[in-house]
Amino acid sequence: IPAPDALAGSGRPTVIAHRGASAHAPENTLDAVDKAAELGIDWVENDVQRTKDGELVVLHDDNLKRTTDAEEVFPDRSPWKVKDFTAAEIARLDAGSWFGPAYAGARVPTLDQYMDRVELHHQKLLLEIKNPELYPGIEQETLKLLDNEGWLDRPHLESRLIVQSFSADSVRTVHELKPAVKTGFLGTPPVADLARYATFVDQINPSYSSASTGYVASVHAVEGPHGRPLEVFVWTVDDANTARLVAGYGVDGIISNAPDVVRDALPAQ
Ligand code: G3P
Ligand code: CA
Repeated sequence: IPAPDALAGSGRPTVIAHRGASAHAPENTLDAVDKAAELGIDWVENDVQRTKDGELVVLHDDNLKRTTDAEEVFPDRSPWKVKDFTAAEIARLDAGSWFGPAYAGARVPTLDQYMDRVELHHQKLLLEIKNPELYPGIEQETLKLLDNEGWLDRPHLESRLIVQSFSADSVRTVHELKPAVKTGFLGTPPVADLARYATFVDQINPSYSSASTGYVASVHAVEGPHGRPLEVFVWTVDDANTARLVAGYGVDGIISNAPDVVRDALPAQ
């Protein structure tokens, strides 16, 4: 795989819309993808989980309460875990009203639907496998869906797709199943452990508050599984001052709910 669009430690960081442009539209909905596109942001981040009947869906929490009307629609189904609902049940839920009346009727997208929308806008995807311990086999299923959608061909692997997780086991599994897929570990491993992570991840993606110039340099000093320096995408930065601060650390990407604010804060190339 040739060099990515953000070379380690050089140039303007890539800006990634966190859960879509989630400061402007309900997180992880197609509206949030559309909003990112409208703002001119070509990378979106999402969170993937699995329904009771095995459909991959895009939602952050392991339960439906915060971002849908599941409690109203299914009052007897406490604690409203994603894994206890079928895809058809989840498709009935309103995932937009909590954010604002303009988004009433927004749905929890299936990953299929989400990919179609990302494709429509010619965007790129930072896909997070969320809570993989709840969903044995989700790595293989995610790769199968990506393959079916045509996202495991060389052009996509080179420039449009990264799979990340807080679970090192999960990203290691993705790497072992499909070594060409670029992967990221969410967290801040000790510098002494970076070489071990570099056998299966291309990125170390910490909270911005645990990053520093020194830590970013230490990550960049290690070569990843595709023969390039490990990259760093930090999360979640929503204001101009912090965006400039972390850009000064030399990060390769900034994940933001307000990607327009971050983009506008960074000096033009
Ligand atoms: O992409 C980084 C970020 O999404 C990790 O935290 O909880 O928002 O999924 P969280
Ligand atoms: Ca996430």
